Amino acid sequence: MIAAQQSIDDANASFWDEICGSAAAQAWGITDSSMESLRRYDENYFRYYPYLERRVNWKALQGKRVLEIGLGYGSVSQKLAESGAVFTGLDIAANPVLMVNQRLRRSGLAGEAVQGSILSCALPASSFDAIIAIGCLHHTGDLKAAIAACRRLLRPGGQLVGMVYWSYSYRRLWLEPRRTIGYWLRELNGYRGTLRDGETAAYDRSRDGALAPATEFISERSLRSYCAGLSEFDAATENAASEGPLRFWSRERLLASPVPRLCGLDLYWTCRKSLE
Ligand SMILES: C[S@@+](CC[C@H](N)C(=O)[O-])C[C@H]1O[C@@H](n2cnc3c(N)ncnc32)[C@H](O)[C@@H]1O
Repeated sequence: MIAAQQSIDDANASFWDEICGSAAAQAWGITDSSMESLRRYDENYFRYYPYLERRVNWKALQGKRVLEIGLGYGSVSQKLAESGAVFTGLDIAANPVLMVNQRLRRSGLAGEAVQGSILSCALPASSFDAIIAIGCLHHTGDLKAAIAACRRLLRPGGQLVGMVYWSYSYRRLWLEPRRTIGYWLRELNGYRGTLRDGETAAYDRSRDGALAPATEFISERSLRSYCAGLSEFDAATENAASEGPLRFWSRERLLASPVPRLCGLDLYWTCRKSLE
């Protein structure tokens, strides 16, 4: 592995050890990790991201070998395991892995989370029917390689469900108009890739204000180009917050409006590993 990637991995392992969602937990009055507190966290999490329920077909994953990458507080992991998926979790940081294994054990659910990076993980090729990666692959430092790694792990016909940050959201246009338009012009000229720098503080920050070590933003067409060897590509934007130009509306009102679909923050997509 090249040194630059190793240093991003090290920084990620340390940054995300403060489990993603800690600030939200605090705001929701959740101060410990008892199962009752985690149940309340999950309730709040799925209420805050209501579209997640439709983006993952939980029922269809019953009995399927499912890998979740990027575990955070483990709400999705818990729901996957409870839905009957044969669950494996992967996260670069130790604490999300501990959190998920603790959840599984305490709930009497099968499955296991392991620590490692998707960019260098030794899980066997073609060993999963589905991979779920919500808000993770754009933090690895190499989104393109992360998608290629997911492809390797999927069996032919297996499905990838992901969420990454959308390059043309209202937030990007509001905070970074020049970069966003520059990216659009480059894309018009054939560029396919991500935007790596600029205003990322509005996305992920630790409680002491540190920024996530790596964040990439991507358009739908560049994401499609990253999904080589994967078919049935389907993407849609979701999510908005009451902020900047949208500060006059509540988040509930925004989520029920066309805003998330027109210029939402996050790009959800699914695709399948082509049958060989
Ligand atoms: C923004 S959090 C999302 C967590 C969770 N999916 C959620 O929705 O709350 C990103 C997660 O990705 C993990 N992550 C970052 N880089 C990774 C890598 N290279 N391999 C595996 N996990 C990684 C982080 O440790 C963190 O738990």
